[in-house]
Amino acid sequence: MPIEAAYDLLERSLIYHRGRPVGTAAACNDSVVAANYKECFVRDFVPSALAFLTSGRHEIVRNFLETVMELSGHQQVMQGHKRSMGLMPASFHVVVEGDKEEVITDFGDRAIGRVTPVDSALWWMILLRAYVVASGDSAFAARDDVQRCISNILDLYLRERFESSPTLLVPDAAFMIDRRMAVYGYPLEIQTLYYGMLLAAHELLIDNESNAKLISDLAALSDALLDHLQHYYWIDRQRFNQMHRFESEQFGRDVVNKLNVYPESIPGWMDGWLDARSGFFVGNVGPGRIDFRFFAQGNLLSILFGIASGDQAQSIMNLYLTRWDALVGEMPMKILYPAMVGEQWRFSTGSDPKNVPYSYHNGGNWPVLLWPFVMAAVGVGRMELAEQALDITMRRLKKDNWPEYYDGRLGDLIGRRSNFHQVWSATGLIIAHEVMEHPDSRALLDSALIKGHARDDK
Ligand code: GLC
Repeated sequence: MPIEAAYDLLERSLIYHRGRPVGTAAACNDSVVAANYKECFVRDFVPSALAFLTSGRHEIVRNFLETVMELSGHQQVMQGHKRSMGLMPASFHVVVEGDKEEVITDFGDRAIGRVTPVDSALWWMILLRAYVVASGDSAFAARDDVQRCISNILDLYLRERFESSPTLLVPDAAFMIDRRMAVYGYPLEIQTLYYGMLLAAHELLIDNESNAKLISDLAALSDALLDHLQHYYWIDRQRFNQMHRFESEQFGRDVVNKLNVYPESIPGWMDGWLDARSGFFVGNVGPGRIDFRFFAQGNLLSILFGIASGDQAQSIMNLYLTRWDALVGEMPMKILYPAMVGEQWRFSTGSDPKNVPYSYHNGGNWPVLLWPFVMAAVGVGRMELAEQALDITMRRLKKDNWPEYYDGRLGDLIGRRSNFHQVWSATGLIIAHEVMEHPDSRALLDSALIKGHARDDK
């Protein structure tokens, strides 16, 4: 049975520190291709955590939250710079020598390309809130060290820099897509996680006099961010038509085309891509720039975190229905669509052979994305789509030995450089299966994940 095998893999992946399980390895293959897949990645642990929460193993999630909290701010500091206490590592692992154990971190200082894990602390806060709701252990969040950690994260992420919008400005490769992929600036996935983090922090901070200003700032920031995403990121037929006829070079406050996006920059594939019932949040927005690519994780988290209104969530699901082959194909889910090809691939990825068109981050299919898809689809009543995606995965993933990703326009090929026994591929399936088969787990996950309230009249 695929599900039993998935739980087995999850069990084998546990990483121990001082005798306690504190995380899960990214992959459990003895001959793992990349050395760091034996480490526990913060983002990869999220679906492990959700699986543990549905099976009542809360303590593992708590151990993980504590471990990462203790590691935060332990990065190397460049000469002349100050330490950001709110930065959390991309990954960690435990080295045992005799009776000594050492936790080794990667804050991007060892990672390929030296990428910064902006998403780690965002996920940590969202997971902390999920843990508290699922376990009822609100005393943990109220502890002084945990409250301090929340404040440190907010201090880093809310720091004033060169803001011109409520969105969070990040370098390339700051999240799940952790290689150069033209995802610098204001990528959707980071914005959705940022929104989730703001809401979670708002709930978790103790409501006392010294937090009062921060708590009201958090509410204002999340409202402004939601408005911004609704206004600048959402696209459907109507909005697309407006962009198609955009006037440019408009100066001043009350103009329509504020970011000076030239209609000429609209890529050819957008012509006919959206039918009258479909829509989605675009991948990135900045001065003179709309990245029209469809990013699965950002769109699915928009539904889960309540950034998409009810109507918008249906429009995203309609897009999945009409573009099923392109966005799901033979293995859920395409990470982004369409792939960058030719000169665009050369310039935007630095000729990255791992990210050739329709492979890996550049339009590969990632089984881990099944969990947000199934949760989002079920949450908005699109059971048939959830069933279909789960069905494909159940038939194939275990047989293929839990690949990390698939290649090809249809996702029909096992990824050329893919790891096997990839843990988040298995936990993605576990969660999707739990949501479909067990109403209790569905209800638990639904309440554990933070949710805002976009209105349909937005
Ligand atoms: C790759 C992925 C990243 C993931 C890591 C471990 O670096 O791009 O998203 O966290 O592998 O699975």
